[in-house]
Amino acid sequence: MTGEAPPGLPEATEPPVAALADPLTRILSLTDFAGLAERTMDRPSFDYIAGGSGEEITLRENVEALRRRRLRSRILVDVTSVDPSTHILGAPLRMPVGIAPMAFGHLAHPSAEPAMARAAGQAGVAFCLSTMSSTPLEEVAGAAPDGAPRWFQLYVHRDRAVSHDLVSRAEAAGYSAIVLTADLPVAGDRERDLRNGLQYPERFGNFTAAEGVAGRPLLEVIGGFNERGLTWRDVAWLRGLTSLPIVIKGVMSGADASRAVRAGAAGVWVSNHGGRQLDRAPASIDVLDEVVRAVGQRTVDGQPVEIYLDGGVRRGADVATALAMGAQAVFVGRPLGLALAVGGEAGVRRGLELLRGELLTTMALMGVTSVDRFRRWMVEP
Ligand SMILES: Cc1cc2nc3c(=O)[nH]c(=O)nc-3n(C[C@H](O)[C@H](O)[C@H](O)COP(=O)(O)O)c2cc1C
Repeated sequence: MTGEAPPGLPEATEPPVAALADPLTRILSLTDFAGLAERTMDRPSFDYIAGGSGEEITLRENVEALRRRRLRSRILVDVTSVDPSTHILGAPLRMPVGIAPMAFGHLAHPSAEPAMARAAGQAGVAFCLSTMSSTPLEEVAGAAPDGAPRWFQLYVHRDRAVSHDLVSRAEAAGYSAIVLTADLPVAGDRERDLRNGLQYPERFGNFTAAEGVAGRPLLEVIGGFNERGLTWRDVAWLRGLTSLPIVIKGVMSGADASRAVRAGAAGVWVSNHGGRQLDRAPASIDVLDEVVRAVGQRTVDGQPVEIYLDGGVRRGADVATALAMGAQAVFVGRPLGLALAVGGEAGVRRGLELLRGELLTTMALMGVTSVDRFRRWMVEP
């Protein structure tokens, strides 16, 4: 900008060049990452992260069902200080948020899972590493040695020895819970990946895949690894392998939540895999009431069973909605995967920072000064 300033006013200046050059400064909410990622990523990688199964009905419904809820507030509450901190499985969090497990982080960015884990540690949110991470679990643990809790997500392999080994390694590397993903007995039909010919990668983190799988269709390979015959009996098997708490991910009904508690799960993770598995499953927020009722005040090993939720969480208002309805914390997938793609570790940090800012504003405007003050009546319907 040129021209002289009117007398008494400072000369108008251009915004700093660095701010213009850094696309992250133009990102003002988690939902902004997708547009930038779509313009900069290769199509198969973008589609792998952003896409869902079938007609992507559940993928859309997760987001829309949260947006349909309305928040009620109390006025004239002193909100000089608003504190979103909480704990999960006894560990402190700076806000009730975690990064959901996402396979093949290298498709987003070469810095992959270590960058995610570092950003989570700095933001004081939980990080859950996928069995199918691009980086070995020990390396991820080493990249972010301290900070918020780090959990390991388990897909049970057909060869149980592979899973036994993974669980022992995760425990030795300092992961503090095992998250058993129970909604992938077979892979969902992800048409974008089929159309793009997405292949199983050469580079892979946690176990040695059989010869010749690199280059084969990605979902066919993953589906092939997984134990189709997994049942509730296997939760007892898993509990026998580790002293770590077990969280069951993929719970979508009160009946299964009850069953998970009876099986000894310390946590129940309401999820439809972000609309990547059973298309036409309801939105995860729409089964939360049922799950909260089923779990009630029940305990496992003397501790109250915790409920987490993922699927469609994009805004501070979504976090507030899930908390008021009874979730202990929420997990975020795609937007942070795309944030990693756009800006590496700094992108994920930016995403978490924005989410925290929105949550603080939402809590202040609802008259809620700490997470234990959320109530079910604050969400309609
Ligand atoms: C790219 C990508 C990879 C994923 N990989 C895994 C995985 O390896 N294990 C797992 O349990 N869930 C996986 N999920 C599901 C997420 O953990 C989570 O349930 C879902 O992304 C939440 O929905 P959201 O993306 O709308 O936030 C993946 C999701 C995405 C987007």
